[in-house]
Amino acid sequence: MVEALTINKNLSKAEIYEEILPQIKAITEGEENLVANLANIAAILNEAFGHLWTGFYLRDGKTLVLGPFQGPLACTRIPVEPVPRGVCGTAAVEMKTLIVPDVEKFAGHIACSSLSRSEIVVPLIHNGRTELVLDVDSINTDMFDETDQKYLEQLMAVISKNHFVQ
Ligand code: SME
Repeated sequence: MVEALTINKNLSKAEIYEEILPQIKAITEGEENLVANLANIAAILNEAFGHLWTGFYLRDGKTLVLGPFQGPLACTRIPVEPVPRGVCGTAAVEMKTLIVPDVEKFAGHIACSSLSRSEIVVPLIHNGRTELVLDVDSINTDMFDETDQKYLEQLMAVISKNHFVQ
């Protein structure tokens, strides 16, 4: 397994994703444990971008339960059914990526940290159901865009291929 990351922080956001995605593939493809891989992915994204909070929530029945993450203490469970809560619950039910440029304008946003100002949540869909979500929070408004969406969806496809085979 790769022992150290190579991240050149003078690159553009897209270039940083292009640098880390192959490394994430290399690091995770030899390991079959989902939690171990999610833990390293959260660490890599955090090292690359240093956002406030970067982590995963995993489907557990009618809720999402906190998984591997980097950042401050977070809420443990987020309802998905019968009524979804927060950006994470909504993305899970709608089965699509949600970019929230200003969390104060998203009705029902769950403020795990009062420092969070914008957020992106990317679901991993398997057999017509959200199995987990990646949530990244920033201290700045308007931090996430279609570049993050594109690469983070590619990242979720890597996780899906490794762990949620048909
Ligand atoms: N803000 C999220 C909750 C998770 S934390 O921010 C880590 C939401 O509204 O779903």
